[in-house]
Amino acid sequence: MSEAPTWSHDTSVWFRDPGRADRLSPTLEVVPTAENFDLVVIGGGPAGYATALYGASAGLNIAIIEKQKVGGTCLHVGCIPAKELLETAAVFRTVRDASEFGVNASPPTLDLQVTQQRKQRVIDQLFDGLVGLLKGRKVTVIDGFGTLHADHVVRVSGGLSGEVELTGAVVVLATGSVPRTITGFEVDGRFVVTSDEILSLTDLPATAAVIGGGAIGCEFASMLADLGTKVTILEALPKILPGCDADATKAVERAFKKKGIDVITGVPVHGHDPGENTTAVRYGDNGSLDVELVCVSVGRSPLTDALGDGTGVERTERGHYVVDEYCRTTAEGVYAIGDCIATPALAHVGFAEAIFIVQQILGESPTPIDYGKVPWAIYCNPEVAFAGYTEEAAIKAGFEVVTAKHRFMGNGRAMILGETEGLVKVIAEKRADGTGGRVLGIHLVGPWVTEQLGQGYLAVNWEATVDEIAAFIQPHPSLSELFGETVLSLTGRSLHG
Ligand code: FAD
Ligand code: NAI
Repeated sequence: MSEAPTWSHDTSVWFRDPGRADRLSPTLEVVPTAENFDLVVIGGGPAGYATALYGASAGLNIAIIEKQKVGGTCLHVGCIPAKELLETAAVFRTVRDASEFGVNASPPTLDLQVTQQRKQRVIDQLFDGLVGLLKGRKVTVIDGFGTLHADHVVRVSGGLSGEVELTGAVVVLATGSVPRTITGFEVDGRFVVTSDEILSLTDLPATAAVIGGGAIGCEFASMLADLGTKVTILEALPKILPGCDADATKAVERAFKKKGIDVITGVPVHGHDPGENTTAVRYGDNGSLDVELVCVSVGRSPLTDALGDGTGVERTERGHYVVDEYCRTTAEGVYAIGDCIATPALAHVGFAEAIFIVQQILGESPTPIDYGKVPWAIYCNPEVAFAGYTEEAAIKAGFEVVTAKHRFMGNGRAMILGETEGLVKVIAEKRADGTGGRVLGIHLVGPWVTEQLGQGYLAVNWEATVDEIAAFIQPHPSLSELFGETVLSLTGRSLHG
């Protein structure tokens, strides 16, 4: 009989264990209260805590209710731990490939316990910093499950603050989201996990199937593959990375193939048959794949169970709170922001919505957020970053477009780094002479593109034209030269193109 699988994971992930006493930082005071507040925020993730911090900085008296830990998905089981583990994968790659630079090191091995400890240190440090900020701005933090009732009454129960009732002149619902699951792949603590559990793995599987090739699927597939797991992505749609330009997706798929990741698209998954040490995932017509671990990453479901009776707040069929372009729900004086509404499920969108509603509450007239132009940054290897239209979406929207692409293969800095996979693609409105006018979209795949998106993002959002930005100088040698080169070539002339 073969040995038991070597992987395991810590099932006491905080999101599934609300009773954990460590959910409060030693520096956080739990304040039982019966006051009226200017603003009561239910949910202490990025959207909720940003509302509290920004509102408090403008002098509002604010209470925030959190049933687990302030910081939410992003800090505890999302952006931060995922990027920390991806950085471990990057260090592993660097050591593995060091001999190419004449630096001879022993082949790397991974001590995942140490990795997990480092990840937790980063989270704890950020958590303490956040708690300090909330305390410093005199935000009242109430520990427990909050429910909204008629007339802006909010009741809290089940937490360390005990039974509390409070009211807010304005109430903000920022209750976030949880992993979506699919029939036939229930999380079992053995073979099937979601992002919540995979972030706490204590041993690596030799083989894994990732169901869903979106942002989460691609980040985990990349991380596992770089650390030595044989990964297969099973995606229902014809391409991975929804929302990404087709050329960018192709570049990622090519790079994934080189790492040994199999990407199988256009296949439904039907279920899995557990064996002793592996489980057989059934997909497509007759496909079957034996793996030690299945990661389900098929999107997130909004968490909107914070409504009592008579609130007047409506939900969509998919469970999001209904809001208008000002993030106002169907109830007077009640806003909803972040992952619990149907806008891009990104921490920085939650931050932007928080600032946007506080400005409204303060009587200012901020411009509604243009969700089609928000920045996207996906931290797989190679990284992906984009803002604005894809080529396909721009054409569908009725634009006549001109595009330019340049590959990192020819960029000096990328060669120096040894990371030449990927490209820059710029989509612009076509002028009568065939050159590019207004920049409509920018799509990047390659080294550090998540940090390079800035100038493309500004160009898209400022509605800059190609000739306006082609005049800007890029430092040499730099990765950003490729953006300059791509934009320059849309003027009809180029240097290295
Ligand atoms: P959440 O972060 O989910 O916070 C909601 C909070 O409300 C939670 O703390 C919850 O406990 C609390 N709550 C819910 N209901 C109640 C209630 N009734 N009473 C009291 N408290 C309640 N986004 C990025 O921008 N960049 C990334 O790199 C990125 N990486 C990600 C990686 C992974 C693996 C995952 C899962 C997500 C990632 N995201 C990323 C998405 C990002 O985490 C979310 O968009 C973001 O956390 C949403 O913020 P939020 O405040 O709306 O909700
Ligand atoms: P996603 O919506 O990005 O991708 C889900 C993928 O699963 C899609 O490609 C979809 O077609 C596929 N899918 C759905 N059902 C399926 C099925 N039954 N079988 C096979 N494939 C199926 O969702 P994901 O990756 O779970 O991430 C959720 C959200 O979290 C993202 O949309 C993003 O907003 C946020 N996020 C952002 C990150 C970042 O900004 N770096 C990183 C991770 C998550």
